[in-house]
Amino acid sequence: MIALERLNSIPAQDFVAALASIFEHSPWVPERVAALRPFASVIALHQAMSAAVLQAEEAVQLALIRAHPELAGRAALRGDVTSASTSEQRGAGLSALSQSQLTRLSSLNAEYAKRFGFPFVLAVKGHTPDSVIATLAERVNHDAQQERSVALREICRIGYFRLADLVQEPLGDAIIAMAEELARLSEDSEALTCSYLTPTHRATAARIRDFMIAAGLATHIDAVGNVVGVLAGGANPKRVLTGSHYDTVINAGKYDGRLGILLPIAVAGSLRRSGVKLPYPLEIIAFADEEGVRFKSTFFGSRAVAGRFDLSDLDSVDAGGSTLSDALRAAGHDVAAIPAIARDPSQVACFVEVHIEQGPVLLEAALPVGVVTDIAGSVRSALTVEGLSGHAGTVPMTLRRDAAAAAAEMVLTVESRCRRQPGLVGTVGKLDVPGGAVNVIPGRCEFTIDIRSASDALRDAAVTDISTAIGEIAARRRVKVGRRRLLQAASVPCADALQDAWAASIERITSRPALRLPSGAGHDAMMMASLTDVGMLFVRCGNGGISHHPDETLSAADTDIAARVFQDFLLHFEGST
Ligand code: HGY
Ligand code: MN
Ligand code: MN
Repeated sequence: MIALERLNSIPAQDFVAALASIFEHSPWVPERVAALRPFASVIALHQAMSAAVLQAEEAVQLALIRAHPELAGRAALRGDVTSASTSEQRGAGLSALSQSQLTRLSSLNAEYAKRFGFPFVLAVKGHTPDSVIATLAERVNHDAQQERSVALREICRIGYFRLADLVQEPLGDAIIAMAEELARLSEDSEALTCSYLTPTHRATAARIRDFMIAAGLATHIDAVGNVVGVLAGGANPKRVLTGSHYDTVINAGKYDGRLGILLPIAVAGSLRRSGVKLPYPLEIIAFADEEGVRFKSTFFGSRAVAGRFDLSDLDSVDAGGSTLSDALRAAGHDVAAIPAIARDPSQVACFVEVHIEQGPVLLEAALPVGVVTDIAGSVRSALTVEGLSGHAGTVPMTLRRDAAAAAAEMVLTVESRCRRQPGLVGTVGKLDVPGGAVNVIPGRCEFTIDIRSASDALRDAAVTDISTAIGEIAARRRVKVGRRRLLQAASVPCADALQDAWAASIERITSRPALRLPSGAGHDAMMMASLTDVGMLFVRCGNGGISHHPDETLSAADTDIAARVFQDFLLHFEGST
């Protein structure tokens, strides 16, 4: 391996020589980017090299594609290809094909080469012989223009996997760069929004899977869209699960959820490359839906893994009228396979989640990381107020049944009741007059309520009081109220043994005592707590701890400390808690 810092500082011809293997027989790619140094991350270097490939002249691009060997072709079988290609093809099982696979692959390769005038190129890492053959069988039907761009995209993927194995960089920089890369994928050109099962969400899943493949993990995407990567370990049958969510709120920050996916991936890759084998398998899960933005109920990904997926949720409907089962099928998922996602508790040692604090406590304590003691439970509801719409100019105030005015009084009741007791928070995050107009008395108003507390009793008492008050307001104002419970999640304690293990790792890595603090935000760990013991590591976020907002920020230095704490935790974890 070579350090990125060194790559940034050596003479250009040494830079080119060091990266000559990244793009098959094509040193012109590093030559064209040498002058763009220094690169902040391996991902930035890869983005520059990919841009050089995608912006190259057509003849140069065709020569690059033609520089690649046929998969399991005569040259490969003779061993007459680059060592990178040889190990990649061997890793995908292409040097040990059955006769029927070899016959099928050879005939498809010949058909493909005849049709396009260049060899079939695929980033085979993460593939099996059958998936390679299936991909070739599908791509041989592409048109020439489409196939050339797919081939170039695959060549850039090969380049990324090779760079990841060749160039070393600080874990914090790598994690921040991956988060920046994911944040480029959004439903909104001006902000980061990644809602469950949208094209953005699926492109994000594919990129996360590539990060996992580059780290050397065995990967798959399950029937609800969770992206799973496993780092093979020793004989201990109970595996450590870790992860967080990759969906976001609307106009989100880059690190909520994603830090808890990318940090374990970076640490797993670093352990594998340094030849360290954990005594147990490490399973990293990128949960597909925690925020619940699209279908309102939440934790679909972690519920499925914890065996708590409620199949009635398949009938949930999004704003466009699509049901969850429509969306899953459209994404190519098999809803019948959802129950099988549930993990067997006897095979799981624990679940640990790394997450930004989303608050100011670590910032004010001037600490980079902290141990989570418990996760506040929450009760979420969607309410509809039905009054009577009418002409804004002609209906006297005393005769009105104004749905929005009633809702406004209810909103203020939520606020005043939750202000009464510390440790209780209440939020009306959505408030809407569907089809409202400036000169029409609102006949209908919709809003949501989210009540939380680390104490279930405190929260449930507030929920009861607010519900009673809403009923009184409705009666007095002669409006009707419909309520739908979206979430009822009890507070979840983090296992003492895991808290202590995190604290010990923090003390070893930072030489400072570990601060323990509660989480006001909900996390996938709440669902995983029904499967196994859970523990969480919080990482300081800047800008006053703001989150669920584009100003959410995280330093590479804190991320690097958190990664080393996580690695220390893994190395000292003694199997089942
Ligand atoms: O709302 C929450 O607490 C989490 O960020 N979904
Ligand atoms: Mn969130
Ligand atoms: Mn989160």
